Amino acid sequence: MCGIIGYIGKKKASELILSGLKKIEYRGYDSAGIAVMGKDGIKIIKGEGKLREIDEKKNFLALEGDIGIGHTRWATHGPPCERNAHPHTDAKGEVAIVHNGIIENFSKLKDELIQQGVKFETDTDTEVIAHLISKSISKSKDIEEGIREAILRLEGAYALGIIVKGVRKLFVARKNAPLVIGRGEGEMFFASDITALLEYTKKMILLEDGDFASLDEGGCTIYRIGDGQSVRREQIEVTWTAQMAQKEGHAHFMLKEIMQQPQALSAALSADVKDAVSLLKNSENLAIIGCGTSYYAALVFEYLMHKQGKGASSYIASEFNSWKIGNEDLIVAISQSGETADTLAALKDAKNKGAKIIVITNVMGSSITRVADVSIMIGVGPEIGVLATKSFLGQLAVLYKLAYTLSSNEKMLEKLFEAPAKVGEILRTSKENVQNLSDELVKLRDFFFISRGIGYPCALEGALKLKEVTYLHAESYPAGELKHGPISLLEENVAVFAIAPLGSTSAKMGGSIQECKARNAKVIVMSDDEALLKEGALTLRMPSVPEELVPLYYIVPLQMLSYFMAVKMQKDPDQPRNLAKSVTVE
Ligand code: M6R
Repeated sequence: MCGIIGYIGKKKASELILSGLKKIEYRGYDSAGIAVMGKDGIKIIKGEGKLREIDEKKNFLALEGDIGIGHTRWATHGPPCERNAHPHTDAKGEVAIVHNGIIENFSKLKDELIQQGVKFETDTDTEVIAHLISKSISKSKDIEEGIREAILRLEGAYALGIIVKGVRKLFVARKNAPLVIGRGEGEMFFASDITALLEYTKKMILLEDGDFASLDEGGCTIYRIGDGQSVRREQIEVTWTAQMAQKEGHAHFMLKEIMQQPQALSAALSADVKDAVSLLKNSENLAIIGCGTSYYAALVFEYLMHKQGKGASSYIASEFNSWKIGNEDLIVAISQSGETADTLAALKDAKNKGAKIIVITNVMGSSITRVADVSIMIGVGPEIGVLATKSFLGQLAVLYKLAYTLSSNEKMLEKLFEAPAKVGEILRTSKENVQNLSDELVKLRDFFFISRGIGYPCALEGALKLKEVTYLHAESYPAGELKHGPISLLEENVAVFAIAPLGSTSAKMGGSIQECKARNAKVIVMSDDEALLKEGALTLRMPSVPEELVPLYYIVPLQMLSYFMAVKMQKDPDQPRNLAKSVTVE
């Protein structure tokens, strides 16, 4: 998704903005640009491709001045190209803006502006905003008021950064898109993502949806977009450091984040779940929502709740239908970024209907924490690789702790607290085997992941990891479903991962493994059951672990395998094609 950043102070804006944009490259983008206001007005450098490529051709640092804005674009309206890259300006080049989000009424506004004689240079929805602001400030005596009035006309989602020729200020606004303000010493910043600012400041001011602010070197003034009333907003001190967002000697962030999982688990297991447990105790109806990997964590929690005899249903957030939701209901929302638009939209709807909300996230002050009654931070530190790895383990750790604290299951809590050491052991002992497996498997093109019971969410996550990062075909089924259709796809050179821990599902998993072998599929058995391991063409031997904790452990070698295969296939594991770290559009 798009990333935005802005700076006002005494330093060279282009340098700080470029470095900040590099920190949020992981969000995924296809073009980028920077605008700086100097002595001769606003100058812009932008282009298609990665920051490094654009910089090599055009040299961002040629932009002189101490006020500026920057953008990484993930194309929505119009193809990725220099013309459509942000910043966008009005006709005279006196207003420059960067935008993350989608303006839903842009065609209507564009038609109106065309009738007034405005000529459009790009295919973007964003250009409309630059022209609207330009017209509005030319009619208004007060610059803030002129910008606010233009913003009032926008429908949809936006985080905006704006500079105006001759005005020593930055203007920002947010609605349904992430935006924080950073406070430095005699300098101010804004960004779509805390990570962009960590090198410069830890003091962040959290804007609410519907806020508009003007920033100068000394601070900021915040207003409501709706009525122009000035408001105060909370300032927080983030605990993340710039170093946490570095590779620290690893070839890729994905590898670093996989290897860091023992520490990530320890941090997550220290989360305070007291308030969430009381809400869970008093809830009538429980819905668990999330997207992608976070949804698979939701499935694990649903399973644990059912095991305790508590009714719970998990939903993919974009499919969550809250028509039955009322004030007796409790929603548990899981989101690493805390900014996923599908999850946020479902939560806002449920909140309006009176539901109570628990959120489990990794990002302090993120949008979903603002609608929550209780927020639990998984505390695993910044996750830069686009693929969720340590955040998945962090989510699971918190969800297990929640479940076992709710049922006062001391024995399982004790087992759970062994997870950091055990994951460390799996990382050490399985690395070589996983590397060898990746040599074999990289020759294949089709992968199935099957399991039963609580192993099934792990199979789903295994398939998601592999397809996201290698672009190979990978899908997952409950093992029992194979024979109801997907088995027709099995033949030689199709790989089937069987997640088959010793326990209540092993006998039936044995049957499914035989069915796959009979169709000549290459079965990779992941298990601690010697009898089942013997049936695999390839094997991933796992330590014996409590059956309910299988997802926490079995996913680790599958994450490593996806990473090694991606590297062998020369794919970028940190920024896979078409994907974004935080998906801020519905
Ligand atoms: O930030 P969130 O946890 O809400 O993100 C949800 C999904 O977009 C995310 O898990 C996605 O599926 C990742 N690419 C998984 O690796």
